[in-house]
Amino acid sequence: MNKPLVDKVAMVTGASRGIGRSVAIALAKEGAIVVAAARDSEMLNETCRAIEEAGGQALASTVELSNENSIRKLMETVAEKYGRLDVLINNAGITLSSVLEETTTDDWDRLMAVNARGAFILCREAVGLLRQALPGVIVNISSVVGVKGYAKQIAYTASKHAMRGMSIAMAEELKESDVRVHVICPGGVDTEMVSRVRPDINKDELIQPEEIAELVLYLVSHTGNAVVDEIRVRRATSGPWF
Ligand SMILES: NC(=O)c1ccc[n+]([C@@H]2O[C@H](COP(=O)([O-])OP(=O)(O)OC[C@H]3O[C@@H](n4cnc5c(N)ncnc54)[C@H](OP(=O)(O)O)[C@@H]3O)[C@@H](O)[C@H]2O)c1
Repeated sequence: MNKPLVDKVAMVTGASRGIGRSVAIALAKEGAIVVAAARDSEMLNETCRAIEEAGGQALASTVELSNENSIRKLMETVAEKYGRLDVLINNAGITLSSVLEETTTDDWDRLMAVNARGAFILCREAVGLLRQALPGVIVNISSVVGVKGYAKQIAYTASKHAMRGMSIAMAEELKESDVRVHVICPGGVDTEMVSRVRPDINKDELIQPEEIAELVLYLVSHTGNAVVDEIRVRRATSGPWF
């Protein structure tokens, strides 16, 4: 069977580890040329090595998402090297566990800068190329806290609500250009992030990063008349319908 993403260029932020690494590998297995972006070049190279060993194509490109110039440079690299972008996965993110009185303004700014502002700038800088793709697809990785809120996660919750809200408005605006904007809101996934902020969750019960990658693959490669705007995905052991 033909691989659905052959010759397409897909950028994945936060591809150095965790969910982003799994998404990058999954997209490459389906034929995409993957631009793997994050700060840690060694870890990015490791992701790209894994892709190439499996017969795929990837480019590691460092980016600091709280820095607008760095995001611009990333997009310039993609434009110069490939002249196209078909898929953008805004996955990179940071979190914080802290009660209200101990959450500093700098904490708030840092979380908003990476999780919301960085994703916004990247969408804006990428949309010119995405409009030329048929279709262009953006998948924004929000969170269960993009829908509800958790104690001690005020800044993180705000940033993920911002990302999700931005995505809904963007989906409306870009539909005329055949650019789809999807959101995935995961519960606990087995990555470094969750082991740091939610060590209380039994590791055996966490969603695997590869399970999120499967959902991304569905969103970016499904063709036909059905479109899924948002996927909310929870641990099997948590309560239904968050
Ligand atoms: N794990 C969960 O339970 C869970 C649940 C719901 C939603 N999510 C969301 O899923 C996404 C991925 O999370 P994860 O669990 O895979 O986390 P993770 O293992 O901590 O990975 C986060 C990724 O983001 C990158 N990153 C962080 N700050 C960055 C910055 N300033 N500029 C560029 N890249 C940056 C990191 O790479 P570098 O350090 O190399 O830059 C890393 O690749 C996040 O948006 C997270 O909020 C996670």
